[in-house]
Amino acid sequence: MTNLNPSAKAMVPFVSVDNMMRLIHHTGVENMLRDLAAYVEEDFRRWELFDKTPRVASHSDVGVIELMPTSDGEAYGFKYVNGHPKNTSEGLQTVTAFGLLADVYTGYPVLLTEMTMLTALRTAATSAMVAKYLAPKDAHTMAMIGNGAQSEFQTLAMKAICGLKSVRLYDQDPKATEKCARNLAGCGLEVVKCKTPEEAIEGAQILTTCTADKQYATILSDNMVGPGVHINAIGGDCPGKTELAAGILSRSDVFVEFPPQTRIEGEIQQMPEDFEVTEMWQVITGQKQGRRDDRQITLFDSVGFAIEDFSALRYIRDQIKGSEFFIELDMLADPDDPRDLFGMLQRAGTAHPA
Ligand SMILES: NC(=O)c1ccc[n+]([C@@H]2O[C@H](COP(=O)([O-])OP(=O)(O)OC[C@H]3O[C@@H](n4cnc5c(N)ncnc54)[C@H](O)[C@@H]3O)[C@@H](O)[C@H]2O)c1
Repeated sequence: MTNLNPSAKAMVPFVSVDNMMRLIHHTGVENMLRDLAAYVEEDFRRWELFDKTPRVASHSDVGVIELMPTSDGEAYGFKYVNGHPKNTSEGLQTVTAFGLLADVYTGYPVLLTEMTMLTALRTAATSAMVAKYLAPKDAHTMAMIGNGAQSEFQTLAMKAICGLKSVRLYDQDPKATEKCARNLAGCGLEVVKCKTPEEAIEGAQILTTCTADKQYATILSDNMVGPGVHINAIGGDCPGKTELAAGILSRSDVFVEFPPQTRIEGEIQQMPEDFEVTEMWQVITGQKQGRRDDRQITLFDSVGFAIEDFSALRYIRDQIKGSEFFIELDMLADPDDPRDLFGMLQRAGTAHPA
């Protein structure tokens, strides 16, 4: 009799959105942000051994769809992610994502997972891991400008990893600020709702910009940024999409993930091609200086790089082993004789005649 049950080799662990949320609750959001930051930091330390390429972007008038691949020689990962700022007005999210991890030796996938939740977590974990190196030592207050999908994650990561005590929220849409304040209530932070971006930055040592718009916007103008602050610029992550006045960049020390991608997508797309930047992995490995004094403005010009997603995929692979937070997907054809793919199809036809 023909056995049509897929073999173990055909199966790939799959983490759905539901299972990802169960895993996050099981672990605790702040614990998971700390764990993810540790995985990202570990991969920044071994930055040089990764395959690195700017992400492959397909732009349209309304958004972008991107593929983000990388490999450390043992595992290969990629993320599919979109960015559509107009989506929220149609009841859809600006950013959605999924990703895959594979074994380089066989080329077989070892994990398929939702990455919309995971992207929010990994972006926040990366921001806070970087702020640990660059923000003023006693930073306790953050301005959070842009109170959309990423904002609570950004805030909680700064709390869990940098010891944030207070967050000052501003969004051009007061409903977004209300939502963010409601979600953060009871998390152990002082949460202040602000009516203007100027009010939001009052007394803040960390300024996070996380807005979505497909244009050169000026979320922070030059006169709003005083000495000594750390800017965590998240929302400018596409050609033609920035958040900071160019004057701020000239007065700041700018830290980036992967310069060839950031020069196309980040805040520094506004600057000349030879504008000086420091690669964050070099700060983490001690080769370059991060914050050197308390008057310096540090700016993390974040665009999101494939290695951060690779770290997140690696983390999920490790976390779900032996757990109930995944199902097995029959994703790979596995004929008894590896060269008899057609025979496998024929036998399936005999077992299930039309
Ligand atoms: N750097 C990274 O690694 C990374 C990762 C994920 C998302 N992002 C980017 O972060 C941004 C935010 O993502 P999201 O998922 O939170 O989007 P979202 O659409 O859920 O939220 C964006 C918020 O920005 C607000 N906004 C837009 N223009 C504004 C302005 N001029 N002033 C104040 N508020 C303004 C909107 O009202 C909205 O509430 C997007 O641009 C996205 O592409 C970057």
